[in-house]
Amino acid sequence: MNHPLHQPTPLSADHAQPRSGPIDTSGWHTHPFPWAHPTLLAPMEGVSHPTFRKLMAERGGIGMLCTEFVRITDQRINPRALAREVVKQPGMPLSVQVMGNSVQHMADAAGLMANLGADVVDINLGCPSPRVVKKGVGAAMLGDLGLLERVLSAMRAAVPGVLSAKIRAGIERADHFLAVGRVLQNAGVDFITVHPRRSADFYQNVADWRIIRALKDELDIPVVGNGDVWYAADAFRMRKETGCDAVMLGRPSLRNPWIFEQIADLAAGKTPREPAGDDLVALLHDVAEHYLAVYPAERLVIGKLKEWLTYTARAVSPELQLRHALRQATVTGLLAEVTTRIAGLPASEVDLNVHGHLGYERRGSAIL
Ligand SMILES: Cc1cc2nc3c(=O)[nH]c(=O)nc-3n(C[C@H](O)[C@H](O)[C@H](O)COP(=O)(O)O)c2cc1C
Repeated sequence: MNHPLHQPTPLSADHAQPRSGPIDTSGWHTHPFPWAHPTLLAPMEGVSHPTFRKLMAERGGIGMLCTEFVRITDQRINPRALAREVVKQPGMPLSVQVMGNSVQHMADAAGLMANLGADVVDINLGCPSPRVVKKGVGAAMLGDLGLLERVLSAMRAAVPGVLSAKIRAGIERADHFLAVGRVLQNAGVDFITVHPRRSADFYQNVADWRIIRALKDELDIPVVGNGDVWYAADAFRMRKETGCDAVMLGRPSLRNPWIFEQIADLAAGKTPREPAGDDLVALLHDVAEHYLAVYPAERLVIGKLKEWLTYTARAVSPELQLRHALRQATVTGLLAEVTTRIAGLPASEVDLNVHGHLGYERRGSAIL
């Protein structure tokens, strides 16, 4: 079968096109979730710890926060270790993600997470990392519908509240995501999130939003769309093009931590913020302050700051060589280097406006 959706998405001019003009925000607040906004901060391993979630929650506009995955092996479950994951922000729902393929342990862990206060328990069916796939978990589970059915049915029986699943489009080919969606739905999952790249793609090419639309057309349960929503306007476009019920953002939130606030402002008819160089400098100071307060060693804070900086660097011209700041060995040195390079940069030279006027990132599309 050579259906176009089974192949990697061909890149079209549309994916890199800077956009402008009115944004159609109609229907944004019509969605099936009990959240203030139909937006989720994606689970990101090594990133989505409580400090990051707090930093993002403080900027506003997020409907639900997600933890990174918690690996559930076939070893005995340690409830105290699981409890450490359920750290909530006041007034904001939390989705806790588990990853594993042991029917009993996944059910036990899911039930525990729900008891500990997780508003949603999510299963990771999308991680493409070789070390994860080798163990038959994450995206590898997309290849075994029988196993999926057994694990999800057991989790369903253990979770009295909301249960969700996060999938990729497939492993080598995107040729059975509809069958995966049906198995999940039949097992009683309340909603699914799809990052429409194949596992084999990792982060190459572009998210194929046509897959989100196909799942939305196929299933009765809500579908959350994810992937390459780099600019605030794209969140509205994703919902219009795919019919998805909410939008999840991961890497774009590191590149533009104001993106959720911009989306909420657009939806409320307010003028969204246009971040400039000084905002990015202030942000990185804020990030440093938050991490210095929780990490005992400066080298750990430096690691977090550098990770963040690689995304910040994607919002400004490569000619500014912001990546040079990555060579700094101290927090003070790194912040000084960032300040020298981008303080005073006008918003027009920072690719964080709602349209993506500079078009540094490729955005997803359901219309090729
Ligand atoms: C550093 C990093 C870590 C990630 N860890 C997880 C994870 O723990 N669980 C998960 O379901 N997805 C994980 N993802 C995938 C993201 O949740 C998301 O699906 C992907 O980045 C595409 O969305 P985006 O274009 O908004 O970034 C991770 C992505 C990144 C970049």
